[in-house]
Amino acid sequence: MVQINNAVSFFLLVVGTVAHPGADILHEIRERELALQAPNRRTVEDCRVELEASGYYKRELHRRLNRVNSLRAEKGSTPLAARDIDPYYAVEDVVGPRSEVDKRASCVLDPEVTEGPYWVAGELIRQDVTTGSKGIITHLDINVIDVSTCKPIPDIFVELWGCNSTGVYTGVVAKGNGVGTAAPEEIKNNALRGVQPTGANGTASFITIAPGHYVGRTNHLHTIIHHGATKLPNNTIQGGTISHVGQFYIEQAMMQTIEATAPYNTNKQAWTKLDKDMLFSAGKAGGDDPLLQIKMLGSSIEDGIYAYIDVGVNPKVAQKPSPVNIWGPNGGVPNKGSMWAGYPWTKKIRSTLGL
Ligand SMILES: *[C@@H]1O[C@H](CO)[C@@H](O)[C@H](O)[C@H]1NC(C)=O
Ligand SMILES: *[C@@H]1O[C@H](CO)[C@@H](O)[C@H](O)[C@H]1NC(C)=O
Ligand SMILES: *[C@@H]1O[C@H](CO)[C@@H](O)[C@H](O)[C@H]1NC(C)=O
Repeated sequence: MVQINNAVSFFLLVVGTVAHPGADILHEIRERELALQAPNRRTVEDCRVELEASGYYKRELHRRLNRVNSLRAEKGSTPLAARDIDPYYAVEDVVGPRSEVDKRASCVLDPEVTEGPYWVAGELIRQDVTTGSKGIITHLDINVIDVSTCKPIPDIFVELWGCNSTGVYTGVVAKGNGVGTAAPEEIKNNALRGVQPTGANGTASFITIAPGHYVGRTNHLHTIIHHGATKLPNNTIQGGTISHVGQFYIEQAMMQTIEATAPYNTNKQAWTKLDKDMLFSAGKAGGDDPLLQIKMLGSSIEDGIYAYIDVGVNPKVAQKPSPVNIWGPNGGVPNKGSMWAGYPWTKKIRSTLGL
């Protein structure tokens, strides 16, 4: 854990004197450190043999292929072949365990990162969360796998949120967040936030935009996995437990292409590249692979992308993330008593961080 402690020291030195991003990152690194030390830590990788035997990879190959090809057809693009999704299954007469090279076709994500200061609870169940946001349209499939049984988990809820293409989270008014406290009406914006069921085969599908970036972090999307929640008549969820709080990333080369397009390229905030992101690096060192697999929908990035990932969770784990706000019938309202209230650098955050 020397590496991560160094990361904490690094941030104290480098961004400790800058008001905004420090608390968020330090908190995340501390949580990350604890998670990587957790006993009985398992990932999707540990389920590889069982998932193979149950036909999961083959089924997902075909489902993902059909999905990307129907999206590509809408853009007038030629269909991809099976080997573009999963090189192993493209060789139809080959049987046996997947090779080291092929295992990238299924990504690995393990517990736990952190919700950070911009989680708004109570968001709507909806597939398309873009709400007019400008950016690279991203069709995202999140497959949830129970790493204690190595089976996909049907009929649970996946929550997703991310910042906009110029690095601002909707729905949160905070000094550290883009327009800051100057735009109090931002609390009534729910763009780029939503919840989706995993359906019969354990896949939750969203339409969002590729996230922009803000000071101190590389581009990322946040997720929370809910179990046993009830769907309410007003299209929100209530109750249940949270097994997983995580973040997804996009490969640097792809992100470079995206960041070169408008409006990403109007973002004046310093850009942290993927391999310089402390949370991503800490996760990588601990064996995570939270990179989205991505296929283009056309010859131009502006045609949008199809992204997918397998997320391994232990449904019995109960995480207790803290929302900064709660979405309700009249928009967002502050969550009184949230550890993120008044972010950045409240006494509460300081004491949680042990500073
Ligand atoms: C991102 O959100 C902020 C705050 O609402 C807004 O000022 C900015 O224009 C948004 N960026 C884009 C590209 O829409
Ligand atoms: C689930 O997978 C089965 C077997 O491949 C398939 O027949 C079915 O259509 C899938 N259901 C959904 C909701 O995707
Ligand atoms: C949905 O209903 C629940 C339960 O009545 C309520 O607490 C919540 O604020 C409602 N959310 C919205 C967006 O209307």
